[in-house]
Amino acid sequence: MKLGRRSVCSFLLLFSAALCLFFFHNWKRPIPRASSRLWSSPLEFSKLKYPQLAPEPQYAHIPFKLKEQVVGLLAQNACSCVASRGGLGFSLPFQRQVHALNFTSAYGSEELVEATIARDREYQAFQSRVQSPADQILIAPANSPLQYPLQGVVVQPLKTILVPGLSLQAAEQEVYQVNLSASLGTWDVAGEVEGMRLRGEGQLELTLSSPELDRLNRQLQLVTYSSGSYQPDTADTVRFSTDGHEAVFTIRIKHPPNPRLYPPGSPPEGAKYNISALVTIATKTFLRYDRLRNLIASIRRFYPTITVIIADDSERPEPVNGPYIEHYLMPFGKGWFAGRNLAVSQVTTKYVLWVDDDFIFTGRTKLEKLVDVLEQTSLDLVGGAVREITGFSTTYRQLMSIEPGGPGWGDCLTQRRGFHHELPGFPGCVVTDGVVNFFLARVDKVREIGFDPRLSRVAHLEFFLDGLGSLRVGSCSDVLVDHASKLKLPWVPWGTEAETYAKYRYPGVTDESYVAKHKLLFFKHRLQCMSSD
Ligand SMILES: *[C@@H]1O[C@H](CO)[C@@H](O)[C@H](O)[C@H]1NC(C)=O
Ligand SMILES: *[C@@H]1O[C@H](CO)[C@@H](O)[C@H](O)[C@H]1NC(C)=O
Ligand SMILES: *[C@@H]1O[C@H](CO)[C@@H](O)[C@H](O)[C@H]1NC(C)=O
Repeated sequence: MKLGRRSVCSFLLLFSAALCLFFFHNWKRPIPRASSRLWSSPLEFSKLKYPQLAPEPQYAHIPFKLKEQVVGLLAQNACSCVASRGGLGFSLPFQRQVHALNFTSAYGSEELVEATIARDREYQAFQSRVQSPADQILIAPANSPLQYPLQGVVVQPLKTILVPGLSLQAAEQEVYQVNLSASLGTWDVAGEVEGMRLRGEGQLELTLSSPELDRLNRQLQLVTYSSGSYQPDTADTVRFSTDGHEAVFTIRIKHPPNPRLYPPGSPPEGAKYNISALVTIATKTFLRYDRLRNLIASIRRFYPTITVIIADDSERPEPVNGPYIEHYLMPFGKGWFAGRNLAVSQVTTKYVLWVDDDFIFTGRTKLEKLVDVLEQTSLDLVGGAVREITGFSTTYRQLMSIEPGGPGWGDCLTQRRGFHHELPGFPGCVVTDGVVNFFLARVDKVREIGFDPRLSRVAHLEFFLDGLGSLRVGSCSDVLVDHASKLKLPWVPWGTEAETYAKYRYPGVTDESYVAKHKLLFFKHRLQCMSSD
């Protein structure tokens, strides 16, 4: 005990010294006040870093103040990935390190030119595929006499709707006249108002006129639009005009969303959810049958009737039997993401719980809590925490963003530990972009994003990168699963199976699977580099 006290003292001393250094090093200087400059001549603008702020010629003489704090938030198409370098020449034990990877170096120089050209071509094709007229920015000029719907008018392909919100509010005149024109469909009226003059019913252009404004406006309430060709998920940009004024708006042509619903099952007495009806557990295994059997045994202690799906690409598969178990065999070494895809493709419940084959369920692995988060919020996926044998648990929360790069170079991926904000109503839960290998997710959403089978061995966050922008991710620290240690226990001989496993699962950094992965990130996501901490 005496010896313990002394070493505890010196440890505390060292610890507080390190802490001081850490805070000193990370002390944030106060943000300087927004500096503003007065720009007046157009000449000055041409020298500016922000050509998008240049005025139209008729407004060029009007000076304005540049608010650099805000301007700095505008995209500049000149990203870069920079690794952190300790200011003192070495890094402190608690300091976060930022690493930078340059994907272009995965290529030889000629190969890079070819890949860049091919990638640009694919990118153009992709862009023209995903853009629709509904994405265009439309400004309603001051058409004071015309009232019209700016957006939100929807028609199913080849069907007809009443067009809402059309009206004219003009000063007194002899004849009131409005025109409607479309390109993908035709106009008509659901009824004719007495004393109206109509021209072009059933055609692309419709003219309505009347000496009485009230009659015209009544007639406008009866105007219909019919979609003229079978083109789901597009839009017609239509024009609505009167003397000297014109308004433009879009009518979206699309099917109503197609629901996919799952029966929730009746909950057992006293419980909120029937977990077996809502959740399937999916895992991928490779050689580690002892671990897998421990996992299944631990699941059965708490969830005796939940379905467990196993994707297995071992060379000599062993049988894994039992009630509510589905064991799918794959070609040898098919890989990590291919296995995840196969497992998820076989799920028939609303949610899938992803686990690694060396996890162990305990009393704190409360799936009910994760189900509750997905049922009560708009999140698609929620991660838990993985507890290591050391007692520490990790949620591995990651923030990801993509900054635009120059035309030929591609973009930059930034990955940082952290989260966006707390999840209201769920203490211990946050909203983020990527989580640990232990998560519950909506099956349809996971299938939509998919696990890219090209990522065979070293992959995890790539799934969240694929989901970036559409997958809503949360993380809860109070639902834990145990991790059977990665550490080699000294009394267990380092057998050939373990060696083979390590060879496949943890290849060296120079291994060709890393080169292949960098090429994939370069091409598929149009990235030039990535930085992470
Ligand atoms: C990546 O490496 C290439 C040459 O291999 C270099 O030209 C380019 O500037 C580098 N990009 C970044 C972001 O460091
Ligand atoms: C409406 O269309 C008619 C016939 O095409 C045209 O003569 C008239 O000038 C148009 N009026 C407006 C306000 O656009
Ligand atoms: C829960 O759902 C499963 C599957 O739908 C069903 O077999 C089981 O009877 C349900 N449990 C209860 C308590 O109703």
